[in-house]
Amino acid sequence: MGAVIEVEHLWKTFQLGNQEVEIIKDISFQINQGEFVSIMGPSGSGKSTLLYLLGSLDKPTKGSIKVNGMEISMMHDKQQSIMRRKDIGFVFQFYNLIPNLNVKENIMLPVLLDGKKLSAYKKNLDEILEIVGLTERKNHLPRELSGGQQQRVAIARALINEPNIILADEPIGNLDSKSGNEIMKLFQRINKEKGKTIIQVTHSLESANYGQRILYVKDGSIQNKEVNKESLNVI
Ligand SMILES: Nc1ncnc2c1ncn2[C@@H]1O[C@H](COP(=O)(O)OP(=O)(O)O)[C@@H](O)[C@H]1O
Ligand SMILES: [Mg+2]
Repeated sequence: MGAVIEVEHLWKTFQLGNQEVEIIKDISFQINQGEFVSIMGPSGSGKSTLLYLLGSLDKPTKGSIKVNGMEISMMHDKQQSIMRRKDIGFVFQFYNLIPNLNVKENIMLPVLLDGKKLSAYKKNLDEILEIVGLTERKNHLPRELSGGQQQRVAIARALINEPNIILADEPIGNLDSKSGNEIMKLFQRINKEKGKTIIQVTHSLESANYGQRILYVKDGSIQNKEVNKESLNVI
């Protein structure tokens, strides 16, 4: 299977006061269609920055990122935002749901924002509600749901436009371990059954083990492209 993400000599510097701080330093790697990859590393090592660069939520200082074969920096802003909605689904630690919209409406938000016909997505919505196990909850508001259920709404929202890539930044960072494991099983199912490419940032080796590969980031570099999972237990 081909690469859906290709990163070459990626650099990101932030201006802090009058100092330039290098956060991502010459990172290169590829992720293939259908992989479930976890990005791990110490706090502040640049994991979120890297994920946001992959999703074009931030711009590289130097280097190249191709998503589905398209070089991000060559796209206009409009093309980038279309790509973000069509090709990529985002999931964040704090769900980012709209409090006064119900489950169904939150999931359909990307369709609505695209100005597309909601009725065309009805079948898709029903299927996704079934996958995330929220069919019975579709008319509930976020505050009526547990944290794990709210995160499942966010995952459903990330799937509604049928992107082939899901980017998740510490998706279980705010959940107890039981709900966290359920979310990880859901990602695994979406990866296996729907063939989605999943890239998650996580602190937990247990949740990284739901995927097939770990990218270990330290001080802005990838330390080891195929970390032996056992060896990480000592860190
Ligand atoms: N927009 C920004 N401006 C300045 N510094 C930033 C910005 N975003 C992140 N940083 C800095 O970059 C470093 C890496 O941040 P981040 O990617 O969030 O790390 P991680 O997700 O691995 O904990 C941190 O030192 C953080 O303070
Ligand atoms: Mg982070």
